[in-house]
Amino acid sequence: MTRREFVTCTVTATAILAAPATGCTVADQPTRPGPEPVPGVDPALARLLALAALAPSSHNVQPWRVRVTGARHLSVAIDPARRLPAVDPDGREMILSVGCFVENLSQAAAAEGLALEVTCDATLPDAPELARLRLVPGPGVAGGPERVLRRRTLRTGHRPDPLAAGDLAALLAVAGPGTAFFPRASPEGRRLAEATVEGMRQQTWRDAAQRELSSWIRFRDEEARRRADGLTVASMEAKGLAGFVMGRFFDAGSVMGKSFREKGIEQCARQSVEGAGFLVLSSEGATVPALLESGRRFARMALSVRERAIAAHPMSQALEEAPWRDTLAGELGLPGPVQFVVRVGYVDHYPEPVSPRRPLTAFVTT
Ligand SMILES: Cc1cc2nc3c(=O)[nH]c(=O)nc-3n(C[C@H](O)[C@H](O)[C@H](O)COP(=O)(O)O)c2cc1C
Repeated sequence: MTRREFVTCTVTATAILAAPATGCTVADQPTRPGPEPVPGVDPALARLLALAALAPSSHNVQPWRVRVTGARHLSVAIDPARRLPAVDPDGREMILSVGCFVENLSQAAAAEGLALEVTCDATLPDAPELARLRLVPGPGVAGGPERVLRRRTLRTGHRPDPLAAGDLAALLAVAGPGTAFFPRASPEGRRLAEATVEGMRQQTWRDAAQRELSSWIRFRDEEARRRADGLTVASMEAKGLAGFVMGRFFDAGSVMGKSFREKGIEQCARQSVEGAGFLVLSSEGATVPALLESGRRFARMALSVRERAIAAHPMSQALEEAPWRDTLAGELGLPGPVQFVVRVGYVDHYPEPVSPRRPLTAFVTT
C-alpha cells in the first residue's frame, strides 16, 4: 500500500469513539484500499496506526510493537529483534524512534478530532510497555494527515542560503526548549560537521557497526518490497549510474569492503558542509520519558519542514561514537545531553517519500 492510499479511506477515526466499529460501511467504502485489516482492530484505529508507522526511525528499523487493548487503548514497546546493538547499545535511538511514532499518531489523530493521552513510566528500553496510549475526543486540527503522509528524510540538494528568520523561529518553537540552531559557517556549525565526519569515520571502520548497517540495507527491489524496512537504494538517494550499480550488483559483502566504506565517509564529509546549518535537540536527562519526548519534539519539527521547502537530515554518527557523544553538549553549551543533530537547508525540489514501511500485521497485536 502506498502513502497516498491511506488518504482515501473515508472512515473517520471518530468511529473509534462511537459504537464498536465493524468495518467500513457501504457509504464509507474506500475508493482505494486502506491499511490491511488486523483481526480485532477497529479499521479507523488501524488507519491511524498505519499513519503513525510512517514515522522516521534509525536505519528505518521501525522498532515499534503495538498492542491494542481496546477501541481507544493501546500500548507501544520496542521490538528487541529490531534493535541496533552496535550503534545504539543503550536503546536510546529506539526510544527516540518510538517517540516519533507516538507524535505521528498524535498528529494523525488530531486531524480526526482526537487527542492522544500518553503515559510513560518505563525505566528501561526493553520494558514490556514503553508507553500506554489512549485516544479521547479532542479539539481537532485542520489539514488532514497530509504532513504525516508527505514527511521524509532528505539528504541531498540542501542549498547553502541561511534560514529566513521566520522559518528559523518557527522550527525552534516547534522543536521546543533545549533546541538550538548553529549556522553552517559558525564555529559550532563547523565543529558539528567535523565531529559528524570523525564519528562517521570511526563507525565505518568499526566492523560490528558496519556489519549491522549491512544487515539493514536492501539493495534489491524485491528484498525491499518483501521486508519493507531498512535503507533502500532510493531512500539512500543513490541516483543515476551509482544507484543502478548498487541496486544490481551490491550486496551485504560490498558494505564491508574498503571502497564502500571510503565512499560513505566522503559522502558524509560532502553533506556535512551543505545546507544552512544544524538544528540540535538536547533533553533534560536521558530517562525513558525524556527520550520519548525528545523523539516527539524531533518528529514535530520534521513534520513541519516540508511546507517551508526545508529538508531535514538527522546525522547521528557523533552521537553514536565516543568521545563525541559525551562531549558534544558541553562543547555547544547546551544544558542537557544531545539527542538529535539535524542538518537543515532549503531545497529547490522536494521529492515524495520513498522509504518502505511494514504492514500493520507485522507490528500490531491484540
Ligand atoms: C533517532 C534517529 C536517528 C537517525 N539517524 C540518521 C542518520 O544518522 N543518518 C541518516 O541519514 N538518517 C538518519 N535518520 C533518518 C532515518 O534513516 C529515516 O527516518 C529512515 O530511513 C526512514 O526514512 P524516512 O524518514 O524518509 O521515512 C535517523 C532517524 C531517527 C529517528
